Amino acid sequence: MSETRPNFIGGEQVMSETVPDINPSDLSDTVGHYAQADITIASQAIDAAAQAFPAWSRASPQVRFDLLDRTGTLILERKQVLGELLAREEGKTLAEGIGEVIRAGQIFKFFAGEALRMTGDIVQSVRPGVDVEISREPAGICCLITPWNFPIAIPAWKIAPALAFGNTVVFKPAEQTPGCGWALIDILIEAGAPPGVINLVMGKGSDLGDTLIGSPKVDAVSFTGSLHTGRRIAARCAELGKRVQCEMGGKNPLVVLDDADLNVAVSAAINGAFFSTGQRCTASSRLIVTEGIYDAFVSALTTRMRALRVGHALDPATEIGPVVDERQFRQNLDYIEIGQGEGARLIGGDTPTRDTRGFFLEPALLLDTLPDMRVNQEEIFGPVASVIRVSDADAALEVANAVPFGLSAGVCTTSLASARRFRRDLVAGMVMVNLPTAGVDYHVPFGGRRASSFGPREQGSYAREFYTIVKTSYIG
Ligand code: UN1
Repeated sequence: MSETRPNFIGGEQVMSETVPDINPSDLSDTVGHYAQADITIASQAIDAAAQAFPAWSRASPQVRFDLLDRTGTLILERKQVLGELLAREEGKTLAEGIGEVIRAGQIFKFFAGEALRMTGDIVQSVRPGVDVEISREPAGICCLITPWNFPIAIPAWKIAPALAFGNTVVFKPAEQTPGCGWALIDILIEAGAPPGVINLVMGKGSDLGDTLIGSPKVDAVSFTGSLHTGRRIAARCAELGKRVQCEMGGKNPLVVLDDADLNVAVSAAINGAFFSTGQRCTASSRLIVTEGIYDAFVSALTTRMRALRVGHALDPATEIGPVVDERQFRQNLDYIEIGQGEGARLIGGDTPTRDTRGFFLEPALLLDTLPDMRVNQEEIFGPVASVIRVSDADAALEVANAVPFGLSAGVCTTSLASARRFRRDLVAGMVMVNLPTAGVDYHVPFGGRRASSFGPREQGSYAREFYTIVKTSYIG
């Protein structure tokens, strides 16, 4: 089964040239053919969002609540079918795909409630007879650019708050996952999204980005993706005076201290480093281990890692799905080679054959690595983790913080004092104690420090800082 889908603008289907979308677990399976917008079509989408803005921004919060609540309900009702699509298109296992779909449904439910909570403040003026009121208004026309690795959850956590707070949207999903983008649009249409409130353009960021970001009609840009692209977007938005929010890479440390519960630490490392094929900006890519537990940890981790079943994302026995596409597959293999060239010892990392031709890569562990090696400084974005041996907790903390990123960071310890110290001193937007660095709740802020993030936090009630603008009114 393969579908052909156009762009979706102002409630209309707008066709353009299409490209095939291939299943990474089975290169003979075409998920669909999806339109590639050109810059004229991208401009039409911005115009449609601008036209829809006055009515949507003034719609009753009940209208916005109803749209988001219904969308959440439909997503949750269809979790099986959507999870299958996600696994087929992106390569996550079916269980991971369904889990992500549930998260997306819950996000819409959460932001339905937020539509009713667009509160402000009333403050006494210092001048007698004057009232001061602080209120929030929608940011305006939002351009949302999303990555392939969470092709339903990340669009959900940008689209839901944008619509909840009265903004209208131009949504550009990653070119690897247009099918999931369309699945979300189908549901928003069915749930009653008025024409122009949500518009979908598909294609490459390199073709459409300048138009989408450069248009004077676009007020705010939210992007999740690579550091290189995010930095360019942030710089361009600063130049144009636009609101911008960028979620970029990570090089997240998971520290394992001598007093850690070995089982907890190994489970956190297996999940954080390899689940979702390591394709998470929150992945635990640096395992920093103190001397006293080092041998036991590496041996238990290696045993568990070797037992992970790599295969077709829709095979119920699979624990690690394929890498998303050839470019990412090559990048992972290159980094494994770079690591070995720098002196690391490789365990795993084979490219097994399966019944279908796909981008299968066994989890890879790089041992005997040093903090300054490229594999410990640059984001790999695959099932590849490195282990760094350190003498004690002080050294672990220093190494953990010695990278340009600061998204998520974890520590495994049974000591309350160590847990408190690492929670305070890890330079990261999110800290996890005795948990993997990846896998976050849907109702609390998400984001990092340093090169990982730019602009206000996403998700939870904090999302309003990006999607609304404060107005201070004086009434005399
Ligand atoms: C998670 O770890 O649960 O691109 C979410 C990413 C992140 C999302 C991670 N923005 O991997």
